[in-house]
Amino acid sequence: MPSGLGSVTGTRYRRPVRISVIGCGYLGAVHAASMAKLGHEVVAVDVDPAKIERLAAGEAPFFEPGLPEILDEALASGRIRFTTDMAEVAGSTVHFLAVGTPQGPTGAADLTYVDAAVAALTPHLAPGEFVVGKSTVPVGTAARLAAEVEAAVPGATLVWNPEFLREGFAVQDTISPDRFVYGVPEGADGERAVAALDEVYAQALAAGTPRLVVNLPTAELVKISANAFLATKISFINAMAEIAEVAGADVTALADAIGHDDRIGRKFLNAGLGFGGGCLPKDIRAFQARADELGVGESLAFLADVDATNLRRRAHVVDLATELLGGSVAGKRVAVLGLAFKPNSDDVRDSPALDIAARLQELGASVGAYDPEAVETARRLHPELDYAASATQALEGADLVLVLTEWTVFRELDPAEVASLVASPVVVDGRNCLDRDAWTAAGFTYRGMGR
Ligand code: UDX
Repeated sequence: MPSGLGSVTGTRYRRPVRISVIGCGYLGAVHAASMAKLGHEVVAVDVDPAKIERLAAGEAPFFEPGLPEILDEALASGRIRFTTDMAEVAGSTVHFLAVGTPQGPTGAADLTYVDAAVAALTPHLAPGEFVVGKSTVPVGTAARLAAEVEAAVPGATLVWNPEFLREGFAVQDTISPDRFVYGVPEGADGERAVAALDEVYAQALAAGTPRLVVNLPTAELVKISANAFLATKISFINAMAEIAEVAGADVTALADAIGHDDRIGRKFLNAGLGFGGGCLPKDIRAFQARADELGVGESLAFLADVDATNLRRRAHVVDLATELLGGSVAGKRVAVLGLAFKPNSDDVRDSPALDIAARLQELGASVGAYDPEAVETARRLHPELDYAASATQALEGADLVLVLTEWTVFRELDPAEVASLVASPVVVDGRNCLDRDAWTAAGFTYRGMGR
């Protein structure tokens, strides 16, 4: 354990830190509740009164396993409060910035929310306090914001501490991450920032979680390059799926075989519809835009291919559906199982599944779509689709079944039962998550991805 720290008992740390979390989205809400779970005193702020009201009532504003439980626990302990009033952050030692950095019109990250959060925070900031960025930002942003904070409140320090949480595992990834990265300035301020963050993360550090102290641009790059690498790995295997499809190979067996090489690893080699969500797609575009600005666009030229390969998967499924329906989807009933960008999430941001459902509908199909958690979030973006209340309802009378998100309930469907519901037993397994032999044995024409 780092020197000067107290001991850890269970999930409660003996020296609670006063923390503010600015932004209560997928990142901030989980971070705030997790910090309270660790024993810290937390005030969480968001500009959206409806969101704050729900959180204060113990209701998670989105689906994330484990969040309702730690939220209830935090509220019952009195260690967390939610507010729209930025003035309430006054007196916190560590102020986490957890606002979104969506994709702007040019592909570059839109920093409106980050800039607004810093501007709203500085009037309530005192010397000796730390502003800790968690949002994914273009490299160079932290240095600019650090100068702004220092100019507004001399003695306050801005550092960058990216998060690597995965939706669906966000609580676990926040409380026990696989590493901590602190981007800090050189000198005494940086050292004090390291000590403050060590107190915040004392429990995981005591358990041996690696902690890397780097400069501000390195911290920013760690996050975006990790996501660029993951996106590249997925597009690599999807490119292999394209080859496998024409060569008669099986990409799943290929991934298993190359994955045995430790240097490659089996994780993130699942071919299918490619990546979606609030991070990977926008991050690779923002990264390219930033590299262009820095005059090193060529270094990331390959990410354009990564993006193109990823988007081709969606087009491929639309083409495949058209082929399987005899050349046109118009007037055909298509059951879409899965709308979220991945299982255990209700997030449909840049979701390949929802994208495919919407395109088929546009081409004249009658899409019956079902997802265990994402129907409401999907409906907001695509009200034109026919949302079913259950998988059974979506499947009834379908000319084609598309499994587009690998929820366990879809993996466990009984193909014989499905066969009794549909008009025509044809299935596209967009995530290679079904038992091909079982579906074939039940009479289905089965088409996977790259196999
Ligand atoms: C990602 C990063 O994993 C996380 O570290 C970062 O903090 C935020 O971005 P997340 O967006 O929650 O997390 O999802 P992730 O599990 O990475 O999946 C991203 C997308 O890739 C999903 O659409 C998923 O279906 C797809 N994917 C993942 C594949 O297509 N194949 C794979 O092998 C793995």
